[in-house]
Amino acid sequence: AGESIGITLDEQIFIERGEIASHGEGAPILTDVFRARVFWLGQKPLGCGQRYRMKYGTAEIPVEIQLVERAIDTADLSEKPVDAVARDMVADIVLRARGLVALDDYKTNARTGRFVLIEDFTIAGGGIISMAGYPDQRRLMMQKSKNIREVAHRVTPPMRFERNGHRGGVLWFTGLSGAGKSTVAIATEQRLYALGYQVYVLDGDNVRQGLNQNLGFSPDDRAENIRRVGEVAALFADAGMLVISAFISPYRSDRERARLSAERFLGRGGFHEIYIEASLAICEGRDPKGLYRLARSGKISDFTGISAPYEPPGNAELSVDTAALSVEAAVDRVVDYVRSNFPIGQP
Ligand code: ADX
Repeated sequence: AGESIGITLDEQIFIERGEIASHGEGAPILTDVFRARVFWLGQKPLGCGQRYRMKYGTAEIPVEIQLVERAIDTADLSEKPVDAVARDMVADIVLRARGLVALDDYKTNARTGRFVLIEDFTIAGGGIISMAGYPDQRRLMMQKSKNIREVAHRVTPPMRFERNGHRGGVLWFTGLSGAGKSTVAIATEQRLYALGYQVYVLDGDNVRQGLNQNLGFSPDDRAENIRRVGEVAALFADAGMLVISAFISPYRSDRERARLSAERFLGRGGFHEIYIEASLAICEGRDPKGLYRLARSGKISDFTGISAPYEPPGNAELSVDTAALSVEAAVDRVVDYVRSNFPIGQP
């Protein structure tokens, strides 16, 4: 370590300035979101939604502050409000890049686990990277098999439309545990079925007993959970069904990937993100399965909203506020939405 070396590659690859070469094993993490502890030196305060250039090794990466979790004044180590991190304060933040970037966690590599934030051409802060609570997205991007060739269906989407009376599509519910995803999904399924829709609910608690029985609640497992469900939902929708998926799906990037999977089959308009919205306080107050209580007492780890992150949608196609609406009214909202976006008898 620390010495200069020469390497010979067995294939030609294009490497941009700032990109990282590594062994196949021990490759850096690939992610578009990560956590950091920063020491702030900026003239202007650090805040949620601000954009900076991140100097990482020799690379410069545009990033946005997604969340400020904690702010500490270094003068007296007191905790301060998170909406204005001023000079000489330390903050725990979540950063987002536009695409996937290769990074290391400070815990695994102290040299490549740190960065500097630049504002107006001057250093505004320095930070160390933590992936706690966030998955490595490298695994999600890999295709192992070679020599595979796609076959074309002879039963076409118009033929399926003819049979079902409506287009296929994915209604992707997301929200905290206890927000009402399953309740609204199951009641919506019943109502849509009665209206003549070919509709099916994919629910976290069910799918985790079959297809995803080998997955838990670590960040990587959740990402894989959503990758598989995103693909299954896309297949169901390609088969002509209306699919309602009810998963916490806490990561924005996973939901975006599920959207791309569905749109690959169905084009735009095939995927609709529906935010089943209720605050953490409301969900914890309801605590229908008693899981929040167990999570608070430390008996369940990695619990969404308590000890694991939830990234709310930025621009969901529909938001249903279950704190304000009854179950019936929430179902009405979704059913109305479906009837106008997937009208029976109109392609
Ligand atoms: S997701 O995060 O991977 O999308 P998913 O929707 O499949 O989660 O499963 C969430 C359900 O699992 C919750 O409704 C809850 O009943 C249960 N559960 C058990 N452990 C946890 C946990 N640590 N965090 C969140 N939900 C959990």
